[in-house]
Amino acid sequence: MKVSELSIEEKLRLICGKDCWHTNDLNGKIPFLKVTDASMGVRMPANAEEWGGGDKPSVSYPSSQMLANTWNLQTVRAYAECVADDCLEYGADILLGPGVNIKRNPLCGRNFEYYSEDPYLAGVIAREYIAAMQAEGAGTCLKHFCCNNLEYNRKLQSSEVDERTLREIYYKPFEIACEAKPVSVMCSYNKINGVQGSENKKGFSILRNEYGFDGAVISDWDAVYDRVKAAKAGLDLEMPFSKKNFERLVEDVRAGKISEAEIDECAQRVLDMIERCKKLQQGKKRKRTQAERIKLAQEAAEEGIVLLKNEGVLPLQKGQTLSACGLYGALYADGRDNSHLLAGGGSGKVVRLTKDFDIPEELRKAGFQVEYEVAFGDTAVDNSFMDLRKAIENAAVSDINLVFAGTGVNIETEANDRKHMKLSDVQERAILDTAAANPNTVVVLFAGAPIDMSAWIEEVAAVVYAGFCGERGAAAVANVLTGKANPSGKLSETFPLCFEDTPAASGYTDGMVTRYEEGLDVGYRYYDTYCVDVLFPFGHGLSYSEFEYKNLVLKKCGDGIEVNFEIENTSGTDGKEISQVYVRAMSSYVYRPYKELKGFAKSLVKAGKTEKVKVVLDKRAFEYWSVGNDCWEVEDGVYEIIAAASVADERLSAKIKICNGEISVL
Ligand code: BGC
Repeated sequence: MKVSELSIEEKLRLICGKDCWHTNDLNGKIPFLKVTDASMGVRMPANAEEWGGGDKPSVSYPSSQMLANTWNLQTVRAYAECVADDCLEYGADILLGPGVNIKRNPLCGRNFEYYSEDPYLAGVIAREYIAAMQAEGAGTCLKHFCCNNLEYNRKLQSSEVDERTLREIYYKPFEIACEAKPVSVMCSYNKINGVQGSENKKGFSILRNEYGFDGAVISDWDAVYDRVKAAKAGLDLEMPFSKKNFERLVEDVRAGKISEAEIDECAQRVLDMIERCKKLQQGKKRKRTQAERIKLAQEAAEEGIVLLKNEGVLPLQKGQTLSACGLYGALYADGRDNSHLLAGGGSGKVVRLTKDFDIPEELRKAGFQVEYEVAFGDTAVDNSFMDLRKAIENAAVSDINLVFAGTGVNIETEANDRKHMKLSDVQERAILDTAAANPNTVVVLFAGAPIDMSAWIEEVAAVVYAGFCGERGAAAVANVLTGKANPSGKLSETFPLCFEDTPAASGYTDGMVTRYEEGLDVGYRYYDTYCVDVLFPFGHGLSYSEFEYKNLVLKKCGDGIEVNFEIENTSGTDGKEISQVYVRAMSSYVYRPYKELKGFAKSLVKAGKTEKVKVVLDKRAFEYWSVGNDCWEVEDGVYEIIAAASVADERLSAKIKICNGEISVL
């Protein structure tokens, strides 16, 4: 439909949304769209129009941060197809995700909703997710554009970032994800260099004119302060409906503060988005049954769980006796919903369909004898009390002691940041006290972001990072513990030793301004360049298999190169290995971080076998944003191509030379 078929009144209604979750159907003249959140599956509000009223149950998948830890694009694809099925089931036209904000600060309350500290990894996952979801009939909304990297004072804060850093780090995942043509992008709450996220004219025009984004820009909920300014900047749809903003918009139009042609641009893009979403759905049937989706939720959890430390205690051996201790929060001690350790809070939380989440029971089903003790204390509050006497007694007489600890909805949540990176005092105490009774202690962590483990890491034998693992997480964790599933996830963000070590910790910040003083040196780019020790590096994850990398061969391929190498599984256990390809500019006239991720692969390698890996790097793998010339440039010089098992575990390397833009292999 063309915007010329609408009256001015209809156009204004159309660019303002109907209620909390729908676009305006102009009294039945056009179809409406229903939108819904995101990040662990579909959060379907019980009340179709307004805030509040709780959510309907839906399949709860592992959260975005865990999906990223899979580094497996097939898993991403299957996951997105499942969520698209959930959307079809609930009649949702657009899922308000994926979120690709960079994990600049490990305290950010929404990190579990995002993919990575690395823009390439975040962008590639989002691109796959969007392509798969839209192919299955559900629209996507890539969010939050841009630099929403803290929750504190998120509606007033200005993220102050230089142009090169914006281009290379914070815009980059949007740039890559836009290749999959999302139907919409959501603006951020925060200001960017002093400009309101909903009025980010420069940013929106980069999205449209440089990244090929051809959908509609939607506001974050209540992020519009001046509808006219936002429309002039290119924000097409304000959500949810705000009576105050709408009335002012009508007055401003009457007063000539915005032309009808400017309104038309926004209204046409909203019309196009509605038409496009309806087209996406045509003839689409659910690809998987609900049971199949629940099964996928487990497979994704198994792919994403990261074995961080293992001093020979895992996998569990048949016949071993186990003690297990679950450290849960007093707030939910009535057993109403034991999901508080299993998800972050806010708009991304999903009320899960199945209620059982019982790791000890899963282990018993696998033939183990388990003494299980739940210890209650308020996990959100330091210095509360937890009665551990029974748990310690159990630990002392068992072969292996399991401790389930973490953060959960009370600590990691939208609209708040964590106060620190540690577990609460009571949880740390519980780990230390049970580990003192049994050195074969395995800590299973349910969290959406890095944990400072300095108080207890040396005292335990193994750490399994289970993330926020969704409703089938218990079975997935049990399978990883027993070896039925060989862990194959790797970290999509660094676990620093402590918060003070992060570059974000020393940057200027007050209630209103956060200066991104570290520039490009976000996450591993900082630790790697400045040789700062970390607890677990970016890309780290153990397996029950052993892998060797060999025979690196580089070949020219188009305007880039093909990186070929082999991975041999030298163990007796089948396993999957995530190999990472980093590029290091060795002779640059501009600052470059020590090395940067430009490709990766996940390979299944059977015991004793060797698999070939091929990663293609195009010209963009060598580019940097030239502030001098205001464009992407490739410098002539020598570049090292590194195949690595993590950013800190380089296995193979070779060099290329670029001369007058031409690549030659050295
Ligand atoms: C969040 C968005 C979310 C929206 C709708 C906002 O508070 O920032 O990510 O999509 O609410 O629930």
